[in-house]
Amino acid sequence: MPNLKPKLYNFASIQGISEHQLREHYSLYEAYVKKVNELDSMDKLSDCFKDANATFSCMRSVKLGETFALNGVILHQLYFENITNPCGSPNSKMMKLINSQWHSKENFMNCIKSACLSMRGWVIVCVDYLTKSLRIIGLDAHDVGSLWCATPLMVIDVYEHAYFLDFGTNRGKYVDTIFGNLNWNSINARVNCVRI
Ligand SMILES: [Fe+2]
Repeated sequence: MPNLKPKLYNFASIQGISEHQLREHYSLYEAYVKKVNELDSMDKLSDCFKDANATFSCMRSVKLGETFALNGVILHQLYFENITNPCGSPNSKMMKLINSQWHSKENFMNCIKSACLSMRGWVIVCVDYLTKSLRIIGLDAHDVGSLWCATPLMVIDVYEHAYFLDFGTNRGKYVDTIFGNLNWNSINARVNCVRI
């Protein structure tokens, strides 16, 4: 199994969020990376897996922790990537997807903000391959509400740990700050990989 290493991000490029807030957040991400490596180093044939039970058991703990930690790593990497080095604007492919349902970028961003104020973990703009459409989905935790067969384009962390040091309970101000730091080149590159 490969040994995951935390990726590095240009936090100095982010305006309006303190280094203290970002460093504390990054330390949580590092902890998820560490846990994925611990999980991957476990003996898959260990005796502790023999007493399988859906109330509590070693296997149950590992299976619950596995998707929590993996999604914790994946989502934080997508988030840090799309809020560092802010630049650009939605490309024509993205605007076509946005306009087909929301009719303007302003309406689209207002809906994302509303979702950000409604969820407890993550808001993710993705392309859903079943309906071949753009969706704004919400997760209450890393592993609660994930959508399969979809490509995430924009990932926003709305856990309190992402903003509380700087913004307290003012999540709206945090979301506005994130909107001002979006790396649209990164988001456009993701949508360019989507074949719909
Ligand atoms: Fe986070």
